[in-house]
Amino acid sequence: MPDVLVTRRMVDAAMSALDGLGEVLGEVLGEVEVYEGPPTAMPRPDLLRRASGVSGLVTVLTERVDAELLDAAGPGLRIVANHAVGVDNIDIPECTRRGVLVTNTPDVLTEATADLAWALILACVRRVAEGDRFLRARTPWIWDPRMMLGQDLHGRVLGIVGCGRIGQATARRALGFGMRVVYHNSRPLPEEIAAPLGARHVGFDELLASSDVVSVHCPLTPDTRHLFGASAFRKMKASAVLVNTARGPVVDEAALAVALREGEIFGAGLDVFEREPEVTAELLDLDSVTIVPHLGSATVGTREAMGLRAVQNLAAGLAGGRPRDLLNPDVLG
Ligand code: GLV
Ligand code: GLV
Repeated sequence: MPDVLVTRRMVDAAMSALDGLGEVLGEVLGEVEVYEGPPTAMPRPDLLRRASGVSGLVTVLTERVDAELLDAAGPGLRIVANHAVGVDNIDIPECTRRGVLVTNTPDVLTEATADLAWALILACVRRVAEGDRFLRARTPWIWDPRMMLGQDLHGRVLGIVGCGRIGQATARRALGFGMRVVYHNSRPLPEEIAAPLGARHVGFDELLASSDVVSVHCPLTPDTRHLFGASAFRKMKASAVLVNTARGPVVDEAALAVALREGEIFGAGLDVFEREPEVTAELLDLDSVTIVPHLGSATVGTREAMGLRAVQNLAAGLAGGRPRDLLNPDVLG
């Protein structure tokens, strides 16, 4: 009789699917505990206590799934179904060592996240949020040829850092804006994917030097932490913007604030933050920064799809099957 802990309430469709899980599993589901945040994440001591003895965990990105939590859950834990595509919050090798399955929610949020990257790109190059603030402040104004000038996109270069599913979807949209695409990836894309995007694989430094817009889509790993720091910003064009819809710690926010203040780059659009949910105070004072609270996948349809995918993965794991989005197949041998 599996017990399940859900560390943040999902949208209704996903919660209903979870309610029906007993039927899917052909056995009575034990207790399903759901944490009702926000505004706060489940306090860590509560998480450790409530995880005790569960068979399944549905986690969100604010929950660190590490040896401590796995110890607290105990040996009956079969699956951690992350309600996210990113899994930097999970110690996957530790889960594998203990025979715990780990899944994520890929594909379903690719297009929504690429859309948000473009929302930030456009907001930055055309100073949309700044203009909105300006009017809301009741600032006196009159149309002026020199007012609030931004940057063009057509004929310019979009640089994608980390060209997986979301990076490719972001690149695809660039064609509609008349931009050329370069990308930097651990491996060059297969020709059949790169060619329709007209995307050229370049070294990181070349990407920085040649791009007018740099959009970050790589996972957070020890190699990508602070990939964007003082030296990267110095290599970018003074007219360039940086957009991050991936993970906050890929960008050194203190260095970004300096780069913006010194005019080393034109602007930045951030959906994710180095010490999320905190935002570095200096960034809040800069009009060249557009910020939104981690909304990449935040559409009605996408959140339903993510929640359902997490529940499907959970069900498969609890039933002793192979979840569709299994990230550590070694567990099943
Ligand atoms: C959100 O950031 C996700 O990884 O799904
Ligand atoms: C994430 O799923 C990506 O591959 O970009």
